[in-house]
Amino acid sequence: MFFASDNWAGAHPAINERLSKESTRFAAAYGTSELDQAIEQRFNEVFEREVAVFFVATGTAANSLSLASVAKTGGVVFCHSEAHVIEDECGAPDFFSGMRMVPVEGPNGKMLTANLVERIARYPQDAVHHGRAAAVTMTQATEAGTIYTLDEIEEIARIAKTNGLPLHMDGARFANALMALGATPAEMTWKRGVDVLSFGGTKNGCWCAEAIVFFDPGLAKDFAFLRKRTAQLFSKSRFIAAQFEAYLKDDLWLGLAGHANTMADRLRAGFGSLNSARLAWPTGANEVFAILPKASARAAEEKGAKFYDWLEPRDMPETVGTDEMLIRMVTSFATTEEDVDQFLSICRG
Ligand SMILES: Cc1ncc(COP(=O)(O)O)c(C=O)c1O
Repeated sequence: MFFASDNWAGAHPAINERLSKESTRFAAAYGTSELDQAIEQRFNEVFEREVAVFFVATGTAANSLSLASVAKTGGVVFCHSEAHVIEDECGAPDFFSGMRMVPVEGPNGKMLTANLVERIARYPQDAVHHGRAAAVTMTQATEAGTIYTLDEIEEIARIAKTNGLPLHMDGARFANALMALGATPAEMTWKRGVDVLSFGGTKNGCWCAEAIVFFDPGLAKDFAFLRKRTAQLFSKSRFIAAQFEAYLKDDLWLGLAGHANTMADRLRAGFGSLNSARLAWPTGANEVFAILPKASARAAEEKGAKFYDWLEPRDMPETVGTDEMLIRMVTSFATTEEDVDQFLSICRG
């Protein structure tokens, strides 16, 4: 019953196998191997256009360097007020980009477009004292487990473009969002105006594989130098490429994310049918937030369940009673139906 995070899951056997095969041969270093180059090409197919791809090790690096690549001196970046870039990366995006993250509020992890427009207007290009608008970043799926629709992505992109700002997407759970929407990678990104993507693999079955994808190769012109200077150019980069090869082969990645989402659906349905516990807000991908009696949560923990106690978001519609608590559960490719059913039966009491 591991629901603490999809980061707790191991790596998928097909990815392990590919890594193990890679470990027995020699190949050119620093991203120049044939395998690295082949996988870069593979990303072109996945996104149905020529993209510039750079492998990095962590989601924090992907976000930070994506934003650093579009940095302006005195720039500010607009993000949701509970986004990973502002809450959970210890200021790494600010550190690497030299820019400030400016929070934009909105319910259920999604920026309200009216708030985004209002916030951007506070940072005109000549605002030497405040700083100037430089980029917008959005998370898909969001930290609250919700999903921006394709039209919502397009509307945020329109606002960004109207203000001359590039749009970055934090796709740490990109595959889960794709599967929830039933969209293609192209439809959820550049076709709706996303310029730069943090493409996550680690949470969804890789061992350690993240990529930055530039849909406008012009934005990637100097990126090779930025990645090297920020110590994210791996000599054995081909081990990230090998993971992506297995990950993308025969759409393994989509199958794994689909499974994680199905397990989350099972949790959602289970909570929907309990009298003693309830969903805190609707989610669409592989994260579920529930309010349950403290006693049930403790009983589940005693039986080995892992999940996070969660701080109530500012705009949460439900109230948490004094004998209750809010928890976050995240499913992954490795979650089983038995895990879900056992957890629900404990909550049922
Ligand atoms: C939405 C989101 N973005 C980025 C990250 C960062 O990933 P990492 O911990 O690999 O730096 C996470 C990790 O939990 C995340 O949930």
